[in-house]
Amino acid sequence: MKKKYFFKLAFVVSLTLFATTGFSQNSITLHADKPGSRISKDIYGHFAEHLGHCIYGGIYVGEKSDIPNSKGFRLDVVGALKDLKVPLVRWPGGCFADTYHWKDGIGPKADRASIINVHWGGVTEDNSFGTHEFLDFCELIGCDAYICLNVGSGTVQEAAQWMEYATSSSESPMTKLRKQNGREKPWNVKYWAAGNETWGCGGNMRPEYYSDLFNQYSTYMRAPGVYKIACGANAEDYKWMDVLMKQSAHMMNGISLHYYTLAGDWNNKHSATQFDEQDWFVTLQKTLKMEELVTKHSEIMDKYDPEKKVGLLVDEWGNWFDVEPGTNPGFLYQQNTLRDALVAGINLNIFNNHADRVRMSNIAQMINVLQSVILTRDKEMVLTPTYYVFKMYNVHQDATLIPLDIKSNLYQLGAPSVEAINASASSKDGVVSITICNLDPNAAQNIHFTLEGLKATKVTGKIITAKTMNSYNDFGKKEEVSMTDFNGAKVNKGDVEVSLPAKSVVLIQLH
Ligand code: AHR
Repeated sequence: MKKKYFFKLAFVVSLTLFATTGFSQNSITLHADKPGSRISKDIYGHFAEHLGHCIYGGIYVGEKSDIPNSKGFRLDVVGALKDLKVPLVRWPGGCFADTYHWKDGIGPKADRASIINVHWGGVTEDNSFGTHEFLDFCELIGCDAYICLNVGSGTVQEAAQWMEYATSSSESPMTKLRKQNGREKPWNVKYWAAGNETWGCGGNMRPEYYSDLFNQYSTYMRAPGVYKIACGANAEDYKWMDVLMKQSAHMMNGISLHYYTLAGDWNNKHSATQFDEQDWFVTLQKTLKMEELVTKHSEIMDKYDPEKKVGLLVDEWGNWFDVEPGTNPGFLYQQNTLRDALVAGINLNIFNNHADRVRMSNIAQMINVLQSVILTRDKEMVLTPTYYVFKMYNVHQDATLIPLDIKSNLYQLGAPSVEAINASASSKDGVVSITICNLDPNAAQNIHFTLEGLKATKVTGKIITAKTMNSYNDFGKKEEVSMTDFNGAKVNKGDVEVSLPAKSVVLIQLH
């Protein structure tokens, strides 16, 4: 081989090695000297729909159940959610919301009307979990409530009466009814949305039409301190956002965005547990699209709302895989592996980094549906890898964002590549918390941190990782994925060095 070609080849080989092995050094500069926005605790919100076993069996088993409960709420689940510091729960849907008539779900349970849950398995919904049960549950776990009103098949009057029933302290037929049903004082419900996916299951509307409808609903949405939420876009439907912001920004406090991560496509979603590195790569690559979606939707919002009064609320996000074999296809029950932990970690980092505009997000869904934090089977309960990510990341709730400059190695599979590391940082009560994902399932990443406007004397950490990409926690078995102490970070002459194991989510805290 000629000398010239040998050197060329050696150069290409070493570049590829650097790109694929994590051998070169990543660097992150923390700009504590330029603090960003407050990271709203509501970014760590959840979504619970009348779908499969999210409500029935997951949250609520009824007072007569032999599963330990308080007023019908599962005690194991309540305890696990309290530990998670859940800031808010969105309810009753989802697609279910635009079929839901709230008066069916109040009063003595024996008198409540049953309906068919047309979107989710065609099962009979007996309405034993209604407004009182939902709001009592929120009080029990100590979180805010977010209610989605029925626009698709409801009326403005029905929506206005629901809000009055739940939140008014004045004398009225609605508040009298509430008191008759056992609740003297009003609940505190700040977040109310007018419809869900009104571009799809919530009415198949055009943005122009929905925008007029939203303005009408918004006029009658009254509650103390109410935060009015408009139904926003499906993924990259930027036209929807543009029309809504142009015609309705003055009538809303927030607008939603829905984006699900699919390893395959809507016709073939792939297994939640049986996957190879190709599926791992594609899932993480598609998760990173959230960065583009949030950036582009924010740019449109900036055009109409430069003062950033309106919040962008990603009120449905997460992995959507095939249901577990043998389960009802309408129940959307899927397992949850280390890959889900990475997907949660990446999404939450993206939301933190956009805290100036993103004020809320709700993982779909809390229990037994899609990317859940908890799975239940009769008396048993499993905490998923996603649960541990929420537990790790709750240090960011209401903390101040620290902007980061990240220079990352590439994680490459064949020709396509993504950045191997993804991170966000915040500061609260004198402690700086950095959450970092290593997307590369094969190579550790060494990261050199430069600290601007900050001195660290001590570093502590936590890690979520596992033996394999598809490790998961199963009923009756020892946990394969959980959160443990991390000792791979050290302070070195005022800077910080971290060695991040392959396929991991890590929290570093600087003291
Ligand atoms: O989360 C499951 C469904 O996904 C919701 O009901 C709907 O809003 C979305 O399409």
